[in-house]
Amino acid sequence: MRLIAHPYISEIENYTPGKAKIGDKKVIKLSSNENALGSSPKAIEAYSNHAKEIFRYADGSCAALRQAIANKNKISAERIVCGAGSDEIIALLTAAFAGIGDEIIYSEHGFLMYPISAKRVGAKPVKVKEKNLKTDIDAIISSITPKTKIIFIANPNNPTGSYLNKSELQKLIDNTPKNILIFLDHAYEEFVEEPDYPNAIELVNAHKNVVLSRTFSKIYGLASLRIGWCYSSNYIAEILNKVRGPFNVGGPAQAAAIAALADEEFFITSKNHNKKWLKVFFEEFLKMPHITSHPSIANFILLDFGAIEACQKANQKLLENGFILREMSAYNLPNSLRMTIGKEDENLKILQIFKNGF
Ligand SMILES: Cc1ncc(COP(=O)(O)O)c(C=O)c1O
Repeated sequence: MRLIAHPYISEIENYTPGKAKIGDKKVIKLSSNENALGSSPKAIEAYSNHAKEIFRYADGSCAALRQAIANKNKISAERIVCGAGSDEIIALLTAAFAGIGDEIIYSEHGFLMYPISAKRVGAKPVKVKEKNLKTDIDAIISSITPKTKIIFIANPNNPTGSYLNKSELQKLIDNTPKNILIFLDHAYEEFVEEPDYPNAIELVNAHKNVVLSRTFSKIYGLASLRIGWCYSSNYIAEILNKVRGPFNVGGPAQAAAIAALADEEFFITSKNHNKKWLKVFFEEFLKMPHITSHPSIANFILLDFGAIEACQKANQKLLENGFILREMSAYNLPNSLRMTIGKEDENLKILQIFKNGF
């Protein structure tokens, strides 16, 4: 007799987070799409002020935070559920709506937590080919079967940075049976300015099978606190409230998130910083024949070095200079590295390395 987990759990390939260290060396970490400017000072203050309260269980319903999110987005707080990062929301919804033998669709270079969450519950992750590193709506529609339970769409997608516009997403919704959950993962929405970018809140209001998730880990700079939220129908919110842990989001995280939401200045500064540097990088990469940069509307850029050896060589040189980018083999993009937009001095320094060549 021996203790043994479900066989489908053993098959999970562990999520590999972005590297954070090179020995004891001081590094510039551009591997996890965090906010280049750190966190809102007001959020840090709210977090510190909460220190006296950490012996208490927090408000498990996140009532004040949900109300703050609701006010900001003009939606009902009742239909918002908070989670320990949007990762937890992905996992909880997958467990609530899919199980052994079901199928979960995601796009070829989609976020790795989708197949991991599918496998966790014994469901089959169905990877659908992309076209030019972009989610292919027609291919997704053709992959739907009676076993499909969830379709995950990251918009913009990590790691490609590409996005689906309003009409593309509408086509998917119109061609998906209403008993399949369409999960719109908008972890990077706040960075987006494109006029044809879908309004996910309107889509959730119009379709009971559409869910939107957002996070405080990216533009709001609270990745370490693990806090995200989702907006859905009343029914889906009720289901999520049944399956989430009763105190799944800690008090300091809730306090910091409320303060971060209110700090318009930090938000705008972060957004402008990202916009400026995305543009600078694109213009500069266009001049570099050895690197192809893929258009991104998020806070990172996928860089293609043309071949595995060239990519490894570039990565080695970057590491020697203290820069950690994200290796992309787990996303089946072994010729590429993903670079998060950094602070101004970091961006200037890495640009110089790119210009010098490898
Ligand atoms: C597309 C996407 N969704 C979700 C997440 C998870 O974010 P969180 O920190 O809210 O769990 C990430 C993080 O990198 C992401 O890129």
